Amino acid sequence: MLRTQLERIARPLTPNEIRARYLTRGVPRVPLALLPTPLQEAPRLAGELGIGRLLIKRDDLTGLAFGGNKARNLEFRMAEAVEQGAEVFIAGLEAQSNSARMSTAAANLLGMRTILLLRDEPGREWQGNLLVDRLLGAEVRFVTIRERATASEEMDRALEATAEEVRRAGKKPYVMNHAGAFSVGSALAYLLCSAEFLEQAEAVDAELTHVYMCSGNKGHAGLILGRKLLGRSYRTIAISQHYADDRVSGALEAARDALALLGWETDLSESDVESYDDYVDTAYGQPSPRGLQAMRLAARTEGLMLDPIYTGKAMAGLIDHARQGRLGPNSTVMFVHTGGLPAMFAFSDAIVRSLPD
Ligand SMILES: Cc1ncc(COP(=O)(O)O)c(C=O)c1O
Repeated sequence: MLRTQLERIARPLTPNEIRARYLTRGVPRVPLALLPTPLQEAPRLAGELGIGRLLIKRDDLTGLAFGGNKARNLEFRMAEAVEQGAEVFIAGLEAQSNSARMSTAAANLLGMRTILLLRDEPGREWQGNLLVDRLLGAEVRFVTIRERATASEEMDRALEATAEEVRRAGKKPYVMNHAGAFSVGSALAYLLCSAEFLEQAEAVDAELTHVYMCSGNKGHAGLILGRKLLGRSYRTIAISQHYADDRVSGALEAARDALALLGWETDLSESDVESYDDYVDTAYGQPSPRGLQAMRLAARTEGLMLDPIYTGKAMAGLIDHARQGRLGPNSTVMFVHTGGLPAMFAFSDAIVRSLPD
């Protein structure tokens, strides 16, 4: 899109102006998530951490086979598959992928069959997300990656071969990994989520100072846009699930792409992106001691379940920031719970070992 066609945003927009823009611009979207998700006060956990107020945005309750952030993202990602008249949905992901589980559920609702190409892992079991994938009826094929350095090329080749096989069988494939709306879908989704939680926060007289979310960059892009377009001063803080070089550049790119789709323009720079990878600890996809501790604290103060790979680690970041005094009695903090709970059952041994009693 040409820059001259973009409308510069020079004043705070209202949540309704943001929502209306998706419709007037004709951004393709299919309804999948159960919205709005609740906003829950967490006074016991706030007290434990010495934070003025802590609110949990329950995006683990979006529906779609146990819920999570992907339900919002898939509303945009799946719209492209529907527009193309796809019959077989194909995705290449990790064995314990939340995206695989929720995409399969979405494909079922939209009348598509699913083939999942999942990276094989030592010791994998039909547990957690994998169990749900099977129950949902996905055809699960494990892919053995030969070299870490060429993993994405190897997966791409497997995806292309699978798409070709589907075409030869006379059906229309859609490969999610190559979707145009992949990153921008998450940014659009979490811009809308920002409009949603801002209204909910105002309804309970909460003037947000910080918003925490587990994100590598894509969902975070939406939170940054939300803060900017709604003209707010709260900080948006991403706690990353993995070590990656593109936490800042990827967030800016996804934010700019989302803005361009909406026909808007606003200033965005690296200083808008606050992102930490200090809580990955062991490695992506592996539980960490601090994440397991955060799971226990949330469970025992608020009866709140977190997962060991994403939200437990993000909460470990929030807890650490509170313990360092970066959050305090004057802070009103929102934690966006992005779901991922079925993975808990794939890591039951690590969770049990972390429990003191
Ligand atoms: C439960 C959960 N939380 C957070 C994320 C991070 O999403 P993103 O990096 O796309 O913002 C994911 C996706 O990988 C997830 O499954």
